[in-house]
Amino acid sequence: MTALEISGLAKEYVDSYSGDRVTAIGEVTFTVEEGEFVSILGPSGCGKTTVLNIIAGFVEQTAGTVKVGGRVVDGPGPDRGVVFQNHALFPWKTVLGNAAFGLRMKGIPAARRREIALEHLELVGLAGFENRYPHELSGGMRQRLGVARVLANEPAVMLMDEPFASIDAQTRRKLQEDLTRVFELRRPTVFFVTHDIDEAVFLSDRVVVLSRRPSRVREIVTVDLPRPRDWQGTTALPEFREIANHITALLSEGGDREGPELTAA
Ligand SMILES: Nc1ncnc2c1ncn2[C@@H]1O[C@H](COP(=O)(O)OP(=O)(O)OP(=O)(O)O)[C@@H](O)[C@H]1O
Ligand SMILES: [Mg+2]
Repeated sequence: MTALEISGLAKEYVDSYSGDRVTAIGEVTFTVEEGEFVSILGPSGCGKTTVLNIIAGFVEQTAGTVKVGGRVVDGPGPDRGVVFQNHALFPWKTVLGNAAFGLRMKGIPAARRREIALEHLELVGLAGFENRYPHELSGGMRQRLGVARVLANEPAVMLMDEPFASIDAQTRRKLQEDLTRVFELRRPTVFFVTHDIDEAVFLSDRVVVLSRRPSRVREIVTVDLPRPRDWQGTTALPEFREIANHITALLSEGGDREGPELTAA
């Protein structure tokens, strides 16, 4: 079953200062199947965040459609859960209160909310921290909480925009491995934005590679590496390097370079 269907998506922004039109997304089409992990990669400013924000319903597209579970979406909804780069947690709520927030909105009774939230905190490695407040957590722990909160709601699609970008390299590696473990255990449908090629290949079943602005899909690369994956073992596979090199080549072939050949597209 197709969980997420993006077809003919385009977005033109009008700059609020200059009034200039910016074509952020030229034409983007792809799907994400149920239980699939799909990443989107592309040069800075090619519209990755814009694609995610349109899927989330925060930004309206200029053309094209987004379908979740076969239904056209035209605004935010509980069927899409977003893990933000800078956490977006409630500072006045405890870790448990944050994890249970969406469940409360769904009208689930208190005892059951607590049970579900605790289960998901444990899943992401936050057992024992339920009574802390977000400011008492490290950046990596806040991202874990963001993941727990979204997963607890069982959205049809989980959306993540560079969730580990502002986290030190060592912690990031651990978060990538733990996200993979959680994914392999629960099989949520994930749409993940990144500009890190190794991260995209390690995490994903498929990688959508965009050109520079106005962006188009250059290629959708299948990552046929065995699961369960672990960073050391998986990145040491010759196939891993081949795929990563292929994507690097795609991005440098014009995708990541200023040049008239792509702006004329
Ligand atoms: N609200 C806005 N108004 C006008 N232009 C915008 C707006 N948001 C984004 N843009 C422009 O649209 C283009 C795509 O932006 P977007 O943030 O989607 O790119 P990105 O691929 O996520 O970049 P990065 O890799 O740096 O995060 C950029 O040129 C950006 O300046
Ligand atoms: Mg972005």
